[in-house]
Amino acid sequence: MSGAPAALASGTVRRVNGPVVDVVGLDGVAMFDVVAIGEAGLAGEIVSIDGDVATAQVYEYDGGVAPGDRVTSRGEQLSITLGPGLLGHVFDGILRPLEPEVVWLAAGRSDNPAADTTRHFTPAASVGEHLTGGALLGRVTEGEHFEHRVLVPPGIEGILTQLAPESDARADQPIARVGDVDVSMSHRWPVRVPRPARARDREPRLLRTGQRVLDLLYPIVRGSSASVPGGFGTGKTLLQQQIAKWCDAEVIVYVGCGERGNEMIDVLDDLAQLSDPRTGGPLRERTVCIANTSNMPVMAREASIYTGVAVAEYFRDMGYDVVVIADSTSRWAEALREFASRTNQLPAEEGYPATLASALAAFYERAGSFTTLGGSRGSVTIIGAVSPPGGDLTEPVTAQTRRFVRCVWSLDRDLAYARHYPAVSWNESFSRDSDAIAGVRSAAGDTQWAERRALALALLAEAERLESLVELVGAAALPDRQRVMLRSAKLLKESVLQQDAMSDADAYCGEAKQQALLEMILAIHERFLELVDHGVSAERLDELDLARVSAARESGGAEDVAAVTAIRDSALATLKAIG
Ligand SMILES: Nc1ncnc2c1ncn2[C@@H]1O[C@H](COP(=O)(O)OP(=O)(O)OP(=O)(O)O)[C@@H](O)[C@H]1O
Ligand SMILES: [Mg+2]
Repeated sequence: MSGAPAALASGTVRRVNGPVVDVVGLDGVAMFDVVAIGEAGLAGEIVSIDGDVATAQVYEYDGGVAPGDRVTSRGEQLSITLGPGLLGHVFDGILRPLEPEVVWLAAGRSDNPAADTTRHFTPAASVGEHLTGGALLGRVTEGEHFEHRVLVPPGIEGILTQLAPESDARADQPIARVGDVDVSMSHRWPVRVPRPARARDREPRLLRTGQRVLDLLYPIVRGSSASVPGGFGTGKTLLQQQIAKWCDAEVIVYVGCGERGNEMIDVLDDLAQLSDPRTGGPLRERTVCIANTSNMPVMAREASIYTGVAVAEYFRDMGYDVVVIADSTSRWAEALREFASRTNQLPAEEGYPATLASALAAFYERAGSFTTLGGSRGSVTIIGAVSPPGGDLTEPVTAQTRRFVRCVWSLDRDLAYARHYPAVSWNESFSRDSDAIAGVRSAAGDTQWAERRALALALLAEAERLESLVELVGAAALPDRQRVMLRSAKLLKESVLQQDAMSDADAYCGEAKQQALLEMILAIHERFLELVDHGVSAERLDELDLARVSAARESGGAEDVAAVTAIRDSALATLKAIG
């Protein structure tokens, strides 16, 4: 994005320190300009300039790079090519296509996923119209179902003087002329720069994840942000994969950042086999995967989350609701830390640079629901996992992230250890969106939504308190009313909060069934209390076999409310007979 002289600048390598390369002689180079290093043309980005020494972080394995090697500026900030051809594919952190089986790439290759591909373009504008950035030029169908909207890129404005007819056209060749600019189906965008929108949209809209504990207790709206902190093996990746598979967004951008490469391949394979409940096409068709797995150079992780958000904003601008999944932002922060130490920056907390907080803020602030430049409504929701070393939730990345997100879905080691999955803790989690959602639910006719949630949370909190008492004095010492509370809380956990990602019947749960399950437990709980108040002993209630209630989530399909209602009615009938 810098001017013409920078595009011509070239210099030489003076010093190499791991992924950090000092270059001299790059006249006119600017911060964040991209450079090509050595014969292979390895991609790097200028991250500090001190006199005539410019420092680049290199996104590729730079073994073999030596002092004296030539370095050329590309004259633009780290940019990616946005256009048709992203959905259903895997890319590295700077959007160069990867073979999923390899998750690796030849050095120095440039990104351009759409360049040599022909697409069937259908125009949707008329020559002579005055168009501005975001205006619809035409459409391309991707896969079987996805409507890729070709828009005037941001910043371009003028009379439409030429527009291609319905035809097969190359994505990198002009299909329109707006003012004096040729426009093709794809364009370059600098990943660190948020794409412009007209206005933030304040009207809350639900994002349904299909995961009961989230949708019922810690719900999220479209355009919001969530963090999933959790110690080693507590289920972060699995929970995020469940959301990627089942949430009701239109596009998913899945950024695998420093995690295991085979996990990315697994998720893609799964998505290829699962079908989208709304379109019937494979879920893979709505997903873009960005992989910077643990076997790739650490610096490429730094770019990958910005690349992911830029891709998400691109689809948002078409009027789609997009979810960005980042697993794990801790691995990304490690890249920041490694870079800081190699460039002798003064470390702040635990070796992370003082810029950690602003970097996290810059990432999560790109979430939002917007009126797009073209006047439609689109959103980017960001869900980032955090892997605190030793499960310590006070460490800097976890603690700073809490400041910038609207929801925290904290995974608890004890729950995971007890195989209570998803191990979302009811002590550490929160949702700042729950009031807004209560309003949406109420407007849609469900006026009891907030009350049911409050009852469930209160029951969990009370049970938590009682459990620590039981550890001291034993269950038998508790009054009957408190004993049945423990029983109800157990049922709530087993039949509502737990959800088996490996079970076809339970992996995803439709909204009506979610509500039916929670209502069933609250109704049973109410009846329990009535019975003990009428002198029925807690022991008698403890002896009741409610296994069908505990297993109700597995009965019928994801939307099968009738199966739940039948179990509820039979359980309530049993209780009635006691009274
Ligand atoms: N909802 C679930 N249903 C069934 N099993 C689950 C669920 N969530 C987690 N698990 C189990 O926990 C295991 C670990 O999950 P996962 O790999 O997602 O953890 P993680 O927090 O990402 O681990 P790491 O810290 O290594 O990245 C899974 O392999 C699975 O056996
Ligand atoms: Mg993981």
